[in-house]
Amino acid sequence: MQEMEYNLFRRKVMQAAGIDLGCYKENQMKRRLAAALTRSGHASLFDYWRAMEQDPALLRDFVDFVTINVSNFFRNREKFDELAKTILPGLLKERPTLKVWSAGCSAGQEPYSVAMILREFTPGSRHRIIGTDINSSALHLAREAVYTRDDVKEVRPDLVQKYFTVEGDRLRLKDSVRQMVEFRVHNLLADAYEQDCDLILCRNVMIYFTEEAKARVFKGFHASLRPGGVLFIGGTETIMAASELGFDLISPFFYRKRDPVVA
Ligand SMILES: C[S@@+](CC[C@H](N)C(=O)[O-])C[C@H]1O[C@@H](n2cnc3c(N)ncnc32)[C@H](O)[C@@H]1O
Repeated sequence: MQEMEYNLFRRKVMQAAGIDLGCYKENQMKRRLAAALTRSGHASLFDYWRAMEQDPALLRDFVDFVTINVSNFFRNREKFDELAKTILPGLLKERPTLKVWSAGCSAGQEPYSVAMILREFTPGSRHRIIGTDINSSALHLAREAVYTRDDVKEVRPDLVQKYFTVEGDRLRLKDSVRQMVEFRVHNLLADAYEQDCDLILCRNVMIYFTEEAKARVFKGFHASLRPGGVLFIGGTETIMAASELGFDLISPFFYRKRDPVVA
């Protein structure tokens, strides 16, 4: 892939879709881009770009392809057990209704997992759970809330029974949980962040970001959380210089925003 061609393509995608490919790890992004190009059947990035200019659906397909959407309910089950047993009860002691933001939520499995836990703990309470992602096709699936057996393999059988209805080889999430989550398109690298959150989940999203982009996003999350609020990150991630950013490590993958008065 020619450097000049790549840089021009990057600029064009930034202008048209607001996505800076330069914030993603270069080798990974180039590999993904090469795969997208082969899949499209165009001979070069120039040709691919010209086709996208004519047909906005192609640009949307491209964005969907380069942002990777693998997810499942209760991903890293033991961390979700900790969320349910320790983190959420602690947060609920401080505030009876929580504001939860799942950033990079893919097809909704993550925010719906939290919704299920909260419904079990506090039936009847109206929590605010927001799922955001850059990929509008993933969000369409999230709103539909129909999943495969594989998506729900980590869900406790009694919860599958209670919150899903079987439709052939698929499972439809019941409205009681579906209605607890609102979804919207949001680019972590460009858009304004939610405020006053009790809990933010951002898992397996930033593994594709450069260190500089990650630092910017962590700063943004810090500002989004209320003091004492918790950030839950993915099972292969860490926050570099967490303390300097104003986070205390609770246990691996959970960070609490330090209360400035107590600090
Ligand atoms: C591997 S999925 C992770 C889903 C879920 N958080 C989990 O851990 O199972 C990564 C998600 O991040 C989203 N994503 C990638 N870049 C993003 C950005 N700049 N802003 C918001 N979401 C982004 C992708 O569209 C994708 O749905």
